[in-house]
Amino acid sequence: MSTPPLGEIAGVVVPGDGRGRELGFPTANLATDPGDLPADGIYAAWVRIDEDPHPRAASVSVGANPTFAGARERRVEVHLHDADLDLYGRRLAVTLVARLRPTLRFDGVDALIAQTADDVVRCRRLLAAVRMVP
Ligand SMILES: Cc1cc2nc3c(=O)[nH]c(=O)nc-3n(C[C@H](O)[C@H](O)[C@H](O)COP(=O)(O)O)c2cc1C
Repeated sequence: MSTPPLGEIAGVVVPGDGRGRELGFPTANLATDPGDLPADGIYAAWVRIDEDPHPRAASVSVGANPTFAGARERRVEVHLHDADLDLYGRRLAVTLVARLRPTLRFDGVDALIAQTADDVVRCRRLLAAVRMVP
């Protein structure tokens, strides 16, 4: 199966709140122009790091993390499936392949973790099934 991308996002990795690693899903937060972002939600994506031509599979959150208190700007968070890399200062090029669901506000961290684990399983399956040249 081949599918056109839903969108492209590029940005440099900047510090987030450092919470993702505690939740079990470390994320790289991208500095982006909020005006250029696609709709909030959770996406399956291919990600390239700097000049590396090899695309890596990822689950991506676009939105404001409403589960946690404090009004915050929308942002892009990239969870690479098969790599735990120090990405600060690196430039990521993100090709969105499919949108799984909207961003939700969960009543607790456990519900967010369970949903995120399910998202990652679905993203892995999707990316394995979709042949695309990002
Ligand atoms: C696959 C995935 C799905 C997510 N879904 C939600 C969500 O529905 N609601 C939400 O508030 N945050 C969601 N998040 C964002 C997490 O809240 C966020 O990654 C976490 O708080 C870590 O933030 P930090 O990088 O600033 O530490 C999701 C993150 C990922 C990677």
